[in-house]
Amino acid sequence: MLLERIEALKAQISELTASNEETLEALRIKYLSKKGEVTALFNEFRNVSPELKREFGQKLNELKTFATEKINELRETCKAQEKEANKIDITRPATPDVVGTRHPISLVRKEIIDIFSRLGFTLADGPEVEDDWHVFSALNFAADHPARDMQDTFFINQDEKEVQRNIILRSHTSSVQVRTMERQKPPIRIICPGRVYRNEAITARAHCFFHQIEGLYIDKNVSFADLKQVLLLFAQELFGKDTKIRLRPSYFPFTEPSAEMDVSCMLCGGEGCGFCKHTGWVEILGCGMVDPNVLESCGIDSKVYSGYAFGLGIERITNLKYMVKDLRMFSENDVRFLNEFQAAH
Ligand code: DAH
Repeated sequence: MLLERIEALKAQISELTASNEETLEALRIKYLSKKGEVTALFNEFRNVSPELKREFGQKLNELKTFATEKINELRETCKAQEKEANKIDITRPATPDVVGTRHPISLVRKEIIDIFSRLGFTLADGPEVEDDWHVFSALNFAADHPARDMQDTFFINQDEKEVQRNIILRSHTSSVQVRTMERQKPPIRIICPGRVYRNEAITARAHCFFHQIEGLYIDKNVSFADLKQVLLLFAQELFGKDTKIRLRPSYFPFTEPSAEMDVSCMLCGGEGCGFCKHTGWVEILGCGMVDPNVLESCGIDSKVYSGYAFGLGIERITNLKYMVKDLRMFSENDVRFLNEFQAAH
């Protein structure tokens, strides 16, 4: 009877497996602890008749050794498995580091800044939350001038009676012209990149915020010819040396005379195609000679100094360079769109 139980236990133990130290410890307790099954057989040994004691003693000792060895063996396998699991597999292929790309607006802004820095322009900056004076009044927009309606303004604080007290989100970067002229004496040669806001419904062709770059040059004897030459150089650097420009008369309150500049179509080279609506030209910026009233508002003697200014939309230029059809792409942060500019770095 006892002999059979020894054999059965041995068979059972030989089948044991353990996947970790805890299950292994549970097995050790089950068989080898004080209350364990193997130990229990030792306790029964007392009842075995003297003539069989020798044989049973031997078998029992064998069983105990067998169980101890089995547990030890399982412990070794467990340790080995754990070690294997923690090991770093240096043969695995590395996960590539995902590197971000510059935003297309940043790319084009940088390109434009680089061109103008080579022409001697330095960077200037101003706040996005502005007062009426810097966005409108100092720029020769009369209080009731309809030109104020040219740009749908976002108001932070609106004073019905005194527009001069209005606090607004700047609707153009021309405000930085004023700030710079107020604190700096000519010669002034600056460009001011920045974000601007207009109260427009968001569509493929309009957005409530976008980016502009303003240019300003004030010195003695600055002429319209200087403006034209700088803009020609700029257009050729940006769109290629065969690019032509043309200036059309226009109106802005802060420049006199004012003009809008077109460049020869970058797709057809001026022959006329669907992109340029068969005119051969695409509009890229507004410009003109700074109105003497603006100079005087900023404390610059308009009898001594003259200057030119220009303003362009970065989104507009980016659309022309990369044929982006929907303005909303610029602010949606779709990585599939952004990754397309990887090669442009
Ligand atoms: N501020 C104008 C706009 O947002 C752009 C502009 C036109 C700026 C002519 C200028 C300029 O400096 O001379 O539409």
